[in-house]
Amino acid sequence: MSNGTLLQLKAPSLTHTLHQAESSVLCLAADDEHIFSGTQENHVYVWNRKTLQREAILKGHTGSVLALVLAEEKKWLFSSAADSTVRVWSTETLSPIYLVLPVLDVYSGDIFSLAWNARRCCLYFGCQDTSIQYYNFNNCKPEVNGSSTTPPRQFHKFFDSSPRFVHAARLERDGVTSVKVPETVHEEDWQVVQLPKGNLVPSAHYGYIYCMALVDCGEGRSMLLTGSGDEEVKIWACTPTGLILRTTLNGAGAGVLSLAVREDTVYAGCQSGFIKVWDLETGAVIRTIIAQENEDVLALTLLGSDLYAASANGQIQRWNGSFEQTASWSAHDGSVLSTIVVAPRGGISSDSRETYQLVTGANDATMKLWDIEKPAELKPSSSSTSVRAGPDAKAEDLLSALTDFVSFPSVSNDAHREDCRQTALFLRRILTQLGAESHVIPGKPGRNPVVFASFQGTSNLAAPKPRILFYGHYDVIAAPPYGWDSPPFSLTGRNGYLYGRGVTDDKGPIMAVAMATSKLLAKRSLHADIIMLIEGEEEAGSEGFRDMVQKNKEQIGHVDAILVSNSYWIGEDTPCVTYGLRGVIHATLEIGNEQPDLHSGVEGGAVREPMVDMVQLLSTLSAGPRVLIPGFYENVRPATKGELETYDILSEITGKPAANLRSRWREPSLSIHSLGGSGPANSTVIPHSVRAKVSVRIVPDQDLEETAQRLVDHLRTSFKTLDSTNRLKISVDHKADWWLGKLDDRFFLALEGAIEQEWGVRPLRIREGGSIPSIPFLEKEFGCHALHLPMGQSSDQAHLRNERISLKNLRKGQDVVARFLINLTS
Ligand code: BES
Repeated sequence: MSNGTLLQLKAPSLTHTLHQAESSVLCLAADDEHIFSGTQENHVYVWNRKTLQREAILKGHTGSVLALVLAEEKKWLFSSAADSTVRVWSTETLSPIYLVLPVLDVYSGDIFSLAWNARRCCLYFGCQDTSIQYYNFNNCKPEVNGSSTTPPRQFHKFFDSSPRFVHAARLERDGVTSVKVPETVHEEDWQVVQLPKGNLVPSAHYGYIYCMALVDCGEGRSMLLTGSGDEEVKIWACTPTGLILRTTLNGAGAGVLSLAVREDTVYAGCQSGFIKVWDLETGAVIRTIIAQENEDVLALTLLGSDLYAASANGQIQRWNGSFEQTASWSAHDGSVLSTIVVAPRGGISSDSRETYQLVTGANDATMKLWDIEKPAELKPSSSSTSVRAGPDAKAEDLLSALTDFVSFPSVSNDAHREDCRQTALFLRRILTQLGAESHVIPGKPGRNPVVFASFQGTSNLAAPKPRILFYGHYDVIAAPPYGWDSPPFSLTGRNGYLYGRGVTDDKGPIMAVAMATSKLLAKRSLHADIIMLIEGEEEAGSEGFRDMVQKNKEQIGHVDAILVSNSYWIGEDTPCVTYGLRGVIHATLEIGNEQPDLHSGVEGGAVREPMVDMVQLLSTLSAGPRVLIPGFYENVRPATKGELETYDILSEITGKPAANLRSRWREPSLSIHSLGGSGPANSTVIPHSVRAKVSVRIVPDQDLEETAQRLVDHLRTSFKTLDSTNRLKISVDHKADWWLGKLDDRFFLALEGAIEQEWGVRPLRIREGGSIPSIPFLEKEFGCHALHLPMGQSSDQAHLRNERISLKNLRKGQDVVARFLINLTS
């Protein structure tokens, strides 16, 4: 295997190779001046980053150096080794400072892993005896010797084993001639820190603790993650008095050899070649990446959203933030044991690009430096600005939160799973800032999570405290940028409108409801409990939502009314309240045969063509707007006189024909969305397989299941009459029931009243032709009615190019919600 060989994907360029004198490179660390490498032969080599020459050898350990970590703010380097000690070196003078001895009455064995908590000034190390030990260097007070609470003791000639000295002959053999060896290293040079008895978590794992990572959670909090041969990753809260186990990430399925953490994502490199990826918030496994089958993943490193994984067969691979593999190359003739990324410092690379370097160390006694670039950031959940909650909240806060929310391309399809997860995490964070207790609930495997938030109102003695469930969705429909006047995922204001994908469906309304609730909460005027369930699969049929609600019913608790804001006014100027939605059935039809695609000149006329069958089959479904499925209209509720009058009135107000409103809102329909075949779609090839997508909108009192069955039966019967040699496959992909609101419900009346107060006109009671799968289900599940507050206008272009919402509607929508909540208890 030759170094730097290109496999399938382009490898970064190799800029330098450093030879480490026949000794495996077990671990690496780097500061601005140096690269430090831990060797199997007990030393730490120090390489100058400018000259790339070896500058010193740090000697003292009497076993292989297994881990290195820096305390940059202190200019310290920690090294741990198979000699069961940790040593602390000055990175300025490269001289020894402390010899840290594990808790006395246990045999700690090899110390495989280290983590430094700068905030707490605390070093953690993971041992072969399965303990985690720690030492707080604040207590050490190195500058004021003798005044510390646990003073470091001097090396004891009798009790303490003698540190090794570098033998001149070995130095010579290694070609270390220009090396500055601190000749003055004697036992007396070390200040010995003996760990007090209590400074350990015994049996922290059931296996060796191979790796550690420290996570700064902000607000003074930090967490330690430990990975072990016991196939678990544990998360510990770092407290002033030690470590508290918070949670265990299960499902690694093999020993955990390496760890990396970015934002809310934990990556674990495992024995046998897998990388497990967890969501830190929910503890759910979100990915399993196969790095190199049956080859241990010995090191993981992150640069922005790029993950580099090093395997026991010398291979390095890179994945981007969407988990697409972007590089794979053979880096070493041996196992890659350690990797780090060093930031540009100007010394190594002469060009001015922001080139980082990946340093890889292997058991082939080399270290290699590869030029890599920092990827354009996948939008992480935390990159957004903070919102002010309560009285300090400004109108701009709604806009700044919405700007961030829209910037996540949270399209509910496989290509955007990670974007959707980041969106959910962002939303959880914003809702927490706004005063809710909020968390993310994992979705069905392979589906997007749900954000749960609870705003607790204070009881207003005048009336019992109602509990409102707000349902919304953070996922959006895809938005190819062509045809847009501004980038779809960048909220853009023009002439009083905000443009961006999802801004009206449903991100704008979600933010408006959250802001309204938060403001009331902060003014102590929230006298209702608001539960928010914001899902990420609505545009894909809400798969998994039903199960999630049923599983978490206790947590959601009792609900008095369901509030939704996911539809539009009938026109531009008159506010509306929606009391009806149609249901929908999505189906895919496939007609095909076992033959390949054929040349129409050669075979045309001699074969039964699937496309012709499909066209004939589709033609049996409808004639103009009339659906021809037998019994289809049987249960459609007849319109009452009063209802027909309402359509006439609405027609006058909106200028839309009454018949048009009737067909869209209260009559069923059938649509054919797509028709396509295998092959190149040119005029010479007969496709062997053809697909069509069909949907049916249903209305009261059509039965969802029965109508779906009628559709399938009709298709099968009609296909039979074609007497074709091709076969037909039908799949019903999604089903959503119709919904009708209750117009005399007290919550509905309160909402109508709030709209009237805010806009100064009575809202129009309207229905809609679209569908929201979860609404009828939520009503049944919680035994209460749903209310639908449309915020945007009819020209909002939901699902289309240049989706928008008027700023005025959004702001007033927020105020309607506030009034509604106040009205409930006043
Ligand atoms: N917001 C719409 C529902 C809607 C559409 C209400 C038009 C009022 C007018 C929702 O996001 C949506 O698009 N739903 C889908 C449901 C489907 C994916 C199961 C729909 O109606 O097609």
